[in-house]
Amino acid sequence: MKIAILGGTGDIGEGFALNWAENHHIRIGSRKADKAEAAAESYRDALAGQGMKGNILGFDNRTAAEGADVIILTVPHEHVSGVIDTVRPVLDRQIIISPVVPMTKAEYFEYNPPEEGSAAEEILEMLPEGTCVVAAYHTIASGRLCSLDPAFRCDVLICGDDRHSKDVVIDLTDEIECLRPLDAGPLAAARTIESLTPMLLNLAMLNDLKDPSIKIL
Ligand SMILES: NC(=O)c1ccc[n+]([C@@H]2O[C@H](COP(=O)([O-])OP(=O)(O)OC[C@H]3O[C@@H](n4cnc5c(N)ncnc54)[C@H](OP(=O)(O)O)[C@@H]3O)[C@@H](O)[C@H]2O)c1
Repeated sequence: MKIAILGGTGDIGEGFALNWAENHHIRIGSRKADKAEAAAESYRDALAGQGMKGNILGFDNRTAAEGADVIILTVPHEHVSGVIDTVRPVLDRQIIISPVVPMTKAEYFEYNPPEEGSAAEEILEMLPEGTCVVAAYHTIASGRLCSLDPAFRCDVLICGDDRHSKDVVIDLTDEIECLRPLDAGPLAAARTIESLTPMLLNLAMLNDLKDPSIKIL
């Protein structure tokens, strides 16, 4: 598949690129094409350093999204609507994955959902009718995903209203050796799942934990 990682120059975008590049065409998106090209080159180098090959190219966000089968929005919540505005003209029923967590930090991290209930539901409202949104990966720490360490095992809680789109994301997750996909129900379940990330970050801060993620036993 062609997978566009919008804001793929950032922390968790790198993790997806490294893990999916052997099996898929990865299109790193950025506000600046040259930044995406540089990131793509460094991800290819990182894979080569581990004796792996990767099909990763860099583009501006709109070009990355054009013709993609799947788009993952790896941008901070406050910038998602701007990125969607940029790519809207080229949206054509791609599956949209949201790992986006709307949160604020004062003394502690706090879930700060939009009025739609969750970032995933808000994103669905912003997209052309018929676009499918799947929410996933909120509880995966980028450091662990980028490490490509198969000994690290954790679960991905995946929710969405369209069976086919959800199955595509479940399969993509299954391809990443360290992750186990779990069906977490309809898109409205994103309200609960997104709220787990600030909890994990508070646990990390208060207990000196590095890259906490979730595993269901
Ligand atoms: N990091 C994690 O461990 C983690 C875990 C679970 C979920 N998430 C979620 O994944 C998303 C990305 O997280 P991240 O930590 O990877 O974010 P990040 O590294 O802070 O930023 C990702 C990218 O967002 C783009 N960006 C920054 N400001 C922007 C703006 N004003 N307009 C448009 N794009 C802008 C930048 O790309 P360009 O400058 O190249 O355009 C940047 O590289 C967030 O919604 C977060 O809640 C993250």
